[in-house]
Amino acid sequence: MKHVKPVLLSLTFGLPLLVWGVSLGSAVSAQSAADQMPAGPGKDITVATCTKCHSITNITGQHKDRDGWTATITKMVGYGATGSDEDFQAILDYVTKNYGLDSAGAAAPAAAAAHKIAVNTEPAAQLVTDLGLTDDESKALVAYRDKNGNFKTIDDLKKVPGIDATKFDAHAADLQF
Ligand code: HEC
Repeated sequence: MKHVKPVLLSLTFGLPLLVWGVSLGSAVSAQSAADQMPAGPGKDITVATCTKCHSITNITGQHKDRDGWTATITKMVGYGATGSDEDFQAILDYVTKNYGLDSAGAAAPAAAAAHKIAVNTEPAAQLVTDLGLTDDESKALVAYRDKNGNFKTIDDLKKVPGIDATKFDAHAADLQF
């Protein structure tokens, strides 16, 4: 009998801890997906209400008109999504505005794919964001550019001293000279 208790204890605490750890992990990635969503009225309540059962990417990957979203939200309520009428109205307004049929062209992935990095004109801070450079690296790049003129190829970029060249390779397709 002596050994029964610790086993029970670890079952009682170990399992919830494990579940908690897993759901915490997915909550973090859902959070970063939520960060990509356009700001606006209804965003917070959408994220809070619609990430209880699945990732927000279920929503951000879709484009539907108002009727389509109404049908989806009605279906989610059928699955057990809860909220007040005002909440669901705000969610409907938010997703119709940002994930409607006419917003298809403005979808974030398309914009990101088309994003070019103008290495000869972007200021240092922008290069930090776009290329993942450190502050020192971006300053070195701008200083080199000021001194030697425009970069013409990725090999020119790699001549800048003190920058991890793999960062240029990682963005090779987006570099604009
Ligand atoms: C109670 C759990 C639950 C909640 C809360 C929930 N969903 Fe869902 N959702 C599901 C399930 C289960 C599926 C997969 C089954 C399916 O595709 O019909 C799903 C799938 C989806 C899909 C993909 C399928 C489709 O019909 O396009 C979208 C979009 C979606 N949910 C949107 C939402 C929105 C918006 C909210 C917030 C109002 C929400 N969900 C909240 C359970 C939930």
